[in-house]
Amino acid sequence: MQHYIDLSKWTKCAEGAQREIYQSPDDPDVLVKVIKARGRGERGARKSSRRLQWLRRFRRFGAYMTFRREIDEYLEQARKVNSDEIFDLPIPRILGLTHTSNGLGLLVERIANRDGTLSPTLSQLIFSGRLTANHMQLVDQFFDRCRDSHIVLMDINPGNFVITDRSGCEEIFCIDGTGEKQFFKIYASSRFLNNVRLKFAREKLLKKIARHVRVAQERQRAEQNAQPAAYPAPN
Ligand SMILES: Nc1ncnc2c1ncn2[C@@H]1O[C@H](COP(=O)(O)OP(=O)(O)OP(=O)(O)O)[C@@H](O)[C@H]1O
Ligand SMILES: [Mg+2]
Repeated sequence: MQHYIDLSKWTKCAEGAQREIYQSPDDPDVLVKVIKARGRGERGARKSSRRLQWLRRFRRFGAYMTFRREIDEYLEQARKVNSDEIFDLPIPRILGLTHTSNGLGLLVERIANRDGTLSPTLSQLIFSGRLTANHMQLVDQFFDRCRDSHIVLMDINPGNFVITDRSGCEEIFCIDGTGEKQFFKIYASSRFLNNVRLKFAREKLLKKIARHVRVAQERQRAEQNAQPAAYPAPN
């Protein structure tokens, strides 16, 4: 059992705005998420650059509040899976907490493709021109699944969803942003309110996807215009 991870021996494979993601050298199915140094202060306090937010430094769980929310949501969902059932939630398994050379780490299931590479996010698929109609159907199915299973989401953006082909067909996973942000857990307590929120969350995600697609197309056009013409223009 590993009680401490020296991250200099793990490979950094991705990062978001708040966290760095490292891949295990021994187990291809395991990632550890750590809070970036700029976001955590003395004894795991939350460091915030925004004025007026300084009070948050004194809140419980400090810089690790997102871990807490994700663990809460995972526990609520995982407890419903009977021991004779297959775990097929559209969120990665949480494997535990560990101490690392970069502070406390959240061990999670690595969502990968059949070829072993990290599964791409919806953002990456858009910007590499690989977003398909099937991916959009998977987005719809994901929100249906959240409604049926009463999954609470707090952070909706295309970088928080990955598409994997690991089972032979494409599947969607929400790898970040589950759990409730509200002080009073209204969405966790009420299916009805959560369903209303999921409707807005789906629309918000679709808008963000559409915006990303527009930006990707503009970039592509700009690149094409910057390229020299294949044949010299006639005089
Ligand atoms: N379980 C996972 N399986 C595969 N890839 C993952 C997983 N978790 C994270 N990633 C990759 O790492 C990136 C950053 O992770 P994550 O979204 O958790 O960081 P964050 O800093 O909390 O993000 P944000 O910028 O949304 O605050 C993701 O966009 C994704 O590419
Ligand atoms: Mg993220």
